[in-house]
Amino acid sequence: VLVTAGPTRERIDPVRYLSNRSSGKMGFAIAAAARAAGAEVILVTGPVQLATPAGVRRIDVESAADMFAAVEREVAGIDVFVAAAAVADYRPVTPSPRKIKKSAARIDLALERTTDILASVAARDDRPFVVGFAAETDDVEGYARAKLQAKRLDLIAANEVGDGKAFDQDDNALIVLSQDERIEIPHASKIEVARRLVALIAARMR
Ligand code: CTP
Repeated sequence: VLVTAGPTRERIDPVRYLSNRSSGKMGFAIAAAARAAGAEVILVTGPVQLATPAGVRRIDVESAADMFAAVEREVAGIDVFVAAAAVADYRPVTPSPRKIKKSAARIDLALERTTDILASVAARDDRPFVVGFAAETDDVEGYARAKLQAKRLDLIAANEVGDGKAFDQDDNALIVLSQDERIEIPHASKIEVARRLVALIAARMR
């Protein structure tokens, strides 16, 4: 099982970056639950303040490009891919090699799209069972179903985010969608939610 977790950091200059509020807790809990269920687990993670779950092989990365490269290196022969990382969708086009000094009253930062790691794994000929996440502030199920189709996923785990919800919290609730199913994992600790999600994946692998 290959799991991505945490945020990514997209460099603006040597001392600044763009990132997001992901703590990595959900991805780490999934890695731990998959390991506890007997899987061999590789965890590719952005910068987080979390201990590596016992028995899990951890690869630390910083940017979306680093995470994509690590996944490309590890994905061959994998049975299950779970994309729990909050990968930056955009990165600065030209990171400055020097610290940007303040002079102009206003500056513009040009951004370009990063590679969609999840969609790229799902597009492989030898694709594993592919599970994506959708973090939404509104119409959670509608947007999640659209992502399930667009990225050709086997399962998508959707959760509502916003102030005090999901990001950096110890608990979560998920709506898990496949082409023809809808399963609710009720509000519980991320450890328990991860265990339930891993059980759903395992049942569909059989
Ligand atoms: N993902 C990825 N690589 C990216 C971006 C996202 O692997 N460059 C994965 C995430 O790990 C997650 C899912 O894709 O599993 C999230 O889908 P995405 O379309 O990125 O959601 P949002 O960032 O919320 O995008 P949108 O603004 O379109 O809702």
